[in-house]
Amino acid sequence: LSNGLAQTPQMGWNSWNFFACNINETVIKETADALISTGLADIGYVYVNIDDCWSKATRDSKGQLVPDPKTFPSGIKALADYIHGKGLKIGIYSDAGAFTCQVRPGSLFHENDDADLFASWGIDYLKYDNCFNLGIPPKKRYPPMRDALNATGRTIFYSLCEWGVDDPALWAGTVGNSWRTTDDINDSWASMTTIADLNDKWAAYAGPGGWNDPDMLEVGNGGMTYEEYRAHFSIWALMKAPLLIGCDVRNLTAETLEILSNKEVIAVNQDPLGVQGRKVYATGKDGCSEVWAGPLSGHRLAVALWNRCSKVATITAPWTAVGLESGIRVSVRDLWQHKVVTTDAVSSFSASVNAHDSHLYILAPATPSYSVQ
Ligand code: GLA
Repeated sequence: LSNGLAQTPQMGWNSWNFFACNINETVIKETADALISTGLADIGYVYVNIDDCWSKATRDSKGQLVPDPKTFPSGIKALADYIHGKGLKIGIYSDAGAFTCQVRPGSLFHENDDADLFASWGIDYLKYDNCFNLGIPPKKRYPPMRDALNATGRTIFYSLCEWGVDDPALWAGTVGNSWRTTDDINDSWASMTTIADLNDKWAAYAGPGGWNDPDMLEVGNGGMTYEEYRAHFSIWALMKAPLLIGCDVRNLTAETLEILSNKEVIAVNQDPLGVQGRKVYATGKDGCSEVWAGPLSGHRLAVALWNRCSKVATITAPWTAVGLESGIRVSVRDLWQHKVVTTDAVSSFSASVNAHDSHLYILAPATPSYSVQ
C-alpha cells in the first residue's frame, strides 16, 4: 500500500501471543516501559500493538466502540499519549466482520466511524482480523477500511489479518502494508516450520510498502528451545517478515533478549533492498538440511543454513543454489557468532549446524568481479 509506511517490515510488540485476552492498560504501559529499558525500542521495535479484547462487548448508544472500562479505564487516547510520550507508536485491533474473534464488536460496515475514532485517539497501526465475516470475500471487506483510514488524514499502518484466505499476496499489495499468509502460529517447532514453508511460497509478492506476514514471533514464550527460537528469528528476518515480539518483554531471559536484539540479524530484515529470502536448496535425509537465501543491498547475500533434522549435520550452500556465479570468492560473516568465518569461500560454503538450529550469514564480495545473479 503506498501510504509511505512499511518501507521495511514493521517492528514492535503485540499482546496476543503471550497475553491473549488478559490485557489491561497497566500491562501495555509496562510493556512500553520495558521496550525502552531493554534497549529494544532503540533498535527498532517501536510499535506497541494491542490485540483483541480491548473493547467492550457492545457499542455505545451512538454506535461507537468503547474501551473495556474494567481493563482500560483511562481510555485509549490516554494510553496513546503515554506511548507517544515515550517516542513509541501505538497499534490497535479490529475485525472485518460483525465481531472480533473474541466476540467484541467488529468494524464491518462501521469502517468510517471506527477509522475516525482510531485517528482521534492517535492510533498509528491497525491490525484487521477476519472473524464473523458473513461469508463476504476478503477482497471486498478489506479495501473499505483502507479507504476509511486514508480519509482520516492520519497515516496509519494497515495490517491485514485474513489468514491467507484467497491468496492475499496476489491482491493485497494495493490494500495493506502487510497481509497474513497463514493460520495462527503457536509456540511450537511444528507450527513455526509449517508456517515458514507456507509463507515462502509468496516470496515474489513482498516488497517495500507491503510484506507477507507469517504471524508474530513466539521467541521467549517457552515452547521451543534456544536453537529453535534462533532459527525462528533467523528465518523470519530473512523472509522479511514483520518482527513483532510476542512474549512478555517485562520478564525477558538473557537468551531471549540476545535473540531479539541481534542487530546484525535485524539488519537483514530491515535491509533497504526489501527482497524476501527463500528456501533455495534442501539436502540430507528427507531434505531436512535446508539453505535459505536472498539478496541484500550492496551486492551482498543473506544465507541461512537451517538444520530441520533431528541430528547435527554439515550443511553446504553451493553458489549455484544461492545465486552466485561459481568462480566467485566471498567473505562470510556469521551473524550469531558476530565474526567473519572466512574471507575466501569459493563455489560453496559449509558449516556444521546443530539439530533444529539455523546459522545466518552475510556473504559479501571478496573480489571486484562478484555479482549476484
Ligand atoms: C485471530 C488472529 C490472531 C489474534 C486472534 C485474537 O486468531 O489471527 O492473530 O488476533 O484472532 O482473537
